[in-house]
Amino acid sequence: MSERQIRLEVLRYNPETDSEPHFETFEVPCLNEWVVLDALNWAKEHLDPTLNYRWSCHMAVCGSCGMTINGEPSLACKSFIRDLPDTIRVEPLKNFPVERDLVTVAEDFIAKLAAVKPYIIPKEEKAIEDGEYKQTPAQLKTYKQYAQCINCMLCYAACPEYGLEPKFLGPAAIALAHRYNKDSRDGGRDERQEVVAADSGVWKCSFVGACSEVCPKHVDPAGALQQVKVASMTDWYLEHLMPWVKK
Ligand code: FES
Repeated sequence: MSERQIRLEVLRYNPETDSEPHFETFEVPCLNEWVVLDALNWAKEHLDPTLNYRWSCHMAVCGSCGMTINGEPSLACKSFIRDLPDTIRVEPLKNFPVERDLVTVAEDFIAKLAAVKPYIIPKEEKAIEDGEYKQTPAQLKTYKQYAQCINCMLCYAACPEYGLEPKFLGPAAIALAHRYNKDSRDGGRDERQEVVAADSGVWKCSFVGACSEVCPKHVDPAGALQQVKVASMTDWYLEHLMPWVKK
């Protein structure tokens, strides 16, 4: 197995002891098939056990290893060393406060996901004995892409609007609302619209599209947001110009 020496430049910050963040360099002997997460794990195990970062699955499923790698919001477990230069700069995700080193504060993001009611609100309640809410493969296909989100926050780190206006509901939360709105079993769209179409909702998006470029699961949140804009505009026209037409 071939080995390669890399320089890992990691932005370190401990708000309790540091006046400002600073880079620390680790020389790491990597195997070619390693990802950046492996290099961080090696540095933590062999050089500095105080290095802080989040990870869990090592397979692009849990969404916890999001960080900025050579300037790009990326999953550390999906960024192969063989695709990167000998010097790799690793920083926390932009647009989020730093808790410690590469660990960011996710509370605002989690609150935004919760605000869109990310669960099925049945059109009509059924008794348990009446069985499941069934769905055809074609109905599943209408929202499946938007259900692939792993909540990694890369889209928020890439979004210039969220960077300027942290109140913006943001790409993942709006794409998540869209996922449930398109679900044939769901009847909660009107409840979600109160949040999605509010001042800090979908109209803050200026369709830069960076969220879709960095999404590791190809959810295409930018596409979802544009569909939500069209639906919200249709709501407005129906309500104001054709109030006799039912949505
Ligand atoms: S460790 Fe789970 S997504 Fe990277």
